[in-house]
Amino acid sequence: MKKAVVVGALGVMGRYIVDKLAARPDWEVIGLSRRKGEDRERVRYVPVDVLKPWAPDFGDATHVFYAAFQASAGKAADYASNIAPNRDMLVNAVSAIERVSPNLERVVLITGTKYYGTHLGPYKTPARESDPRHAGANYYFDQIDWLTEFQKGKRWTWTDLRPQTLCGFAPGTAMSILPVIAVYAAIMKELGRPMAWPGKPGTGRTIYQVTDSGHFASAALWAATDARCANQAYNITNGDYFRWLDIWPRLAAVFGMEAGEPSPLNLTEFMADKAPLWDAIVSKHGLKPYRFDEVVAWPFGDYVFNTTWDVMSNLTKSRQHGFHDVVDSEEMFVDLLTRFREARIVP
Ligand SMILES: NC(=O)c1ccc[n+]([C@@H]2O[C@H](COP(=O)([O-])OP(=O)(O)OC[C@H]3O[C@@H](n4cnc5c(N)ncnc54)[C@H](OP(=O)(O)O)[C@@H]3O)[C@@H](O)[C@H]2O)c1
Repeated sequence: MKKAVVVGALGVMGRYIVDKLAARPDWEVIGLSRRKGEDRERVRYVPVDVLKPWAPDFGDATHVFYAAFQASAGKAADYASNIAPNRDMLVNAVSAIERVSPNLERVVLITGTKYYGTHLGPYKTPARESDPRHAGANYYFDQIDWLTEFQKGKRWTWTDLRPQTLCGFAPGTAMSILPVIAVYAAIMKELGRPMAWPGKPGTGRTIYQVTDSGHFASAALWAATDARCANQAYNITNGDYFRWLDIWPRLAAVFGMEAGEPSPLNLTEFMADKAPLWDAIVSKHGLKPYRFDEVVAWPFGDYVFNTTWDVMSNLTKSRQHGFHDVVDSEEMFVDLLTRFREARIVP
């Protein structure tokens, strides 16, 4: 049996990693987060705040998947303000787990394409793992530098995975594009408006990429267990590229809506007073009772939909080192949004 500790086990990546490992008979999983998840066969959730000093009540982890994150209140471009908590959480979690795990084999750290400055403006595309860091502060740099230094001389190794815009569902997450699209559709439908592309002019026609959360979990499993991934970084996305305006009408069709003409909208401002409308939609359609601020975080939508530059990762390295899975992004959106409706998260 291998024993994984997933730090950030209820996030839009963490919960998919837990599910992926739990489906395999040779993994036992400990899930860490401040909230407690529901224990099941081979999965135990431990509620802990890893920002504070902490001693594990378990031992002998063979693998750590680090997918925790604490958002700051600012915009994506204010990423530097995230440094202290996100560096400290990694240090506290990994050093405490390592202390009680003499057979530790691999620590998989999840960072992202903001490593290349995707959140700041145009950058060299497609981005390669070996590209230089962007200028200025970024908590990923602090995390990678600490982990690299901490690992020196140890028998375990690390892998850094860099995904882009996760597509999954995790109530309470600050960064998930799928509920942004689904709840935006529900609100506009209720208001009798088309599901217009809400990005400002110049957006929607640039190249974009996303990462299905289940696909990402497969990559994390590969990264944790393949010898070639020792002390390496990899870009992980679906493996294709698209332009939002090309696929948007098909996403609207999932909800039986017209896309109409693009109509720029600041989602954070527009949705600020829509919680009562959401509650009415939930009760009218008998939806799962998620609070508005729990089901969706609008600033992430404004960030993703207002990118006026190409966003592209080069995936050659992960393919050369053995990860060959791909996902058709357009089909993924249709499938996941349909499942959102079927699961009664949106009407
Ligand atoms: N989401 C994306 O689209 C995306 C894309 C590329 C890269 N990334 C990167 O991936 C990493 C993970 O992000 P994510 O989006 O998966 O985050 P997320 O969905 O917000 O999940 C964060 C997880 O961390 C836990 N957590 C937060 N503070 C904690 C603490 N003090 N102690 C213990 N657990 C804590 C949360 O649970 P509790 O709140 O219950 O503690 C949750 O389980 C980040 O570095 C992010 O930048 C994300």
